[in-house]
Amino acid sequence: MLNGAFIFMADLVRAIDMPVTMDFLAVSSYGNAQQSSGEVELLKDLRMPIAGRQVIIVEDIVDTGITLNYLLRLLEARQPTSLKVAALLSKPSRRKVEVPIHYLGFEIEDAFVYGYGLDRGQFDRNLPFITSQA
Ligand code: IMP
Repeated sequence: MLNGAFIFMADLVRAIDMPVTMDFLAVSSYGNAQQSSGEVELLKDLRMPIAGRQVIIVEDIVDTGITLNYLLRLLEARQPTSLKVAALLSKPSRRKVEVPIHYLGFEIEDAFVYGYGLDRGQFDRNLPFITSQA
């Protein structure tokens, strides 16, 4: 999931010791704002078909769950053998839609965080750590 998960993905795949393929898709639900608009737009689709494949969606952060819910529906319709979710961060108190997270890094409280791929108005993705807005 671009753009926010690109650094997490890079670290994650280097820790996986089995044959895997990678593909990227991009959705936008925020624009440059820090509040979800509630509308998800597919900006870039996968290049490879996923029918009959075991798929893990790699997400940076699950906030309201709206983006992930959209993605799960989109990809489920393509009939993968299995569809799981790995997310680095989750803010459960913000959830508007219940979504499964099979592999989770950290649960965090309701704060806007950035760095390590996560942006603040498109900047700060390059910070080598995650921090929250003062
Ligand atoms: P959701 O649809 O509300 O779950 O939002 C998911 C997307 O919003 C994530 O993939 C991020 O791109 C973005 N997002 C949500 N919370 C934050 C945050 O605290 N910092 C940076 N981006 C965030």
